Amino acid sequence: MEIQTSNARPADVDAQALAVAVFKDEKADEGFLKDLDAASAGLVRAVLEAEELKGKEGETAYLHLGAGAGGAKPRRLLLVGVGERADYGAAQASQFAGAAVRALRARNVKTVGLAARLEGAGAERAAQAVVEGAIIGLFEPDKYRTIDKEERAVERLVVVAEGADDAALRRGAERGRVVGESVNFTRDLSNEPGGYLTPTVFAERAQEIANEFGLEIDVLDQARMEAEGMGALLSVARGSDQPPKMMVLKYTPEGRTAVEEGEEYLALVGKGITFDTGGISIKPSENMELMKYDMTGGSTVLGVMRAVAQLKPPIPILGVVPATENMPSGKATKPGDVVRAMSGKTIEVINTDAEGRLILADAVSYAKKLGATRVIDMATLTGAVSIALGDVNTGIMGTDQELINEIIESGREVGEKFWQLPLDKEYTKQIKSDIADIKNVGGRKAGTITAAAFIKEFADGTSWAHLDIAGTAWGDEAKPFRSKGPTGVAVRTLLNFVERSARKAAGGGGGGEAK
Ligand code: BES
Ligand code: MN
Ligand code: ZN
Repeated sequence: MEIQTSNARPADVDAQALAVAVFKDEKADEGFLKDLDAASAGLVRAVLEAEELKGKEGETAYLHLGAGAGGAKPRRLLLVGVGERADYGAAQASQFAGAAVRALRARNVKTVGLAARLEGAGAERAAQAVVEGAIIGLFEPDKYRTIDKEERAVERLVVVAEGADDAALRRGAERGRVVGESVNFTRDLSNEPGGYLTPTVFAERAQEIANEFGLEIDVLDQARMEAEGMGALLSVARGSDQPPKMMVLKYTPEGRTAVEEGEEYLALVGKGITFDTGGISIKPSENMELMKYDMTGGSTVLGVMRAVAQLKPPIPILGVVPATENMPSGKATKPGDVVRAMSGKTIEVINTDAEGRLILADAVSYAKKLGATRVIDMATLTGAVSIALGDVNTGIMGTDQELINEIIESGREVGEKFWQLPLDKEYTKQIKSDIADIKNVGGRKAGTITAAAFIKEFADGTSWAHLDIAGTAWGDEAKPFRSKGPTGVAVRTLLNFVERSARKAAGGGGGGEAK
């Protein structure tokens, strides 16, 4: 898809259709809509006066403009309700763009102008939000279909912001393209069946992005995991015929070769279970097919690294993705087995289905060994998080309140919600073992928290936050602005977090964007 920008009048945009954001209870007799109303020979006013569209979020009205009438260049107009003007920010503009391109693609429109009207945010931020939203909106999880596939495609997008600085629009549009494509990269990987995306193939995909965008990469095989003493990760891999892999990606800012003494070093660590059967503590068959997305923490890390390599922030970033299947077999770890993690801690494996925390334990230890001072791990870790928070909020916990606050705020700016759960030391009592240092489950109570308490045992001594994305990484239903299936949650938040951290490191303060 070709992406263009324009700072001309929206009604003059060179596209088959123009999509326009309309605020709640907005009238056509002043400002932006007045101009558009004139260009559409009064159609905008007619629609609003008839209350066909009141500007509520998600409402749309689609109009064909008569040849020449009013003088608008696009022959089709899509009005999209975006809710209250006071609440309108980058997150809403992004959803506007997603909803608009999905609605127009369904009507076989090939070239689309988008007037998001996000004036206060600055042209760059606005263009980024719009392009991101459009690219994410157009993703369909249907690559294995041969019939009923979405054959229609938007071929050209024009971001329109009248009077804006065109260089800023272009910069924003380019950032938006990188971010949107990286979110879709994550979604595509998450959607891959376990039979195709084995740990080996997963690591090949990591190698591909490292080659394409210029990242340092190291992939640990089983022998090296053994040499590192990664007994927790290896205990999960034991039941599988597929060899485990640990991907380690390094981004170093341009013009530098290494992390400096005393410098913050951010590590992103993502759970990469390419299929979770539960192992010997096998899962019920109902919905087990969904466990192909149990590597979404890992694909999220790859998506972020892929974007970082292109956006080139001035801070170093490490990505670590432990990948394995969790399978039952004659070789599989049995409930009651005791394993030794890389850190030296011994773990009683009570339930082999609580495997994510085991592989993360060693991955976090390895990130620390490589010098990480701040660790953010992400994982489809517990079913319990969707009982607590549903598919709306991602659960967040950790040891560094400032880091947690930064992530929550980074999410708010891009429209991804995080809700903090408590992680008091009392919860750690639930994972005390009778025969080893700790056990891998903490009983029925507070399942999301005891899972985090387990990882905390290994993150100790660093600034650490944990994101449980089990409830938010998969959408059971399509939204106006995106398809159902993998959501790519947290990629945008983490990229915004990186940008804010870079600004802070440069002494610019971490202040939020104006809406
Ligand atoms: N991958 C699952 C968690 C999960 C469940 C993710 C549903 C997405 C949707 C994880 O490995 C798991 O099985 N967790 C167990 C933990 C339990 C055994 C303590 C769970 O949540 O039931
Ligand atoms: Mn499991
Ligand atoms: Zn799992």
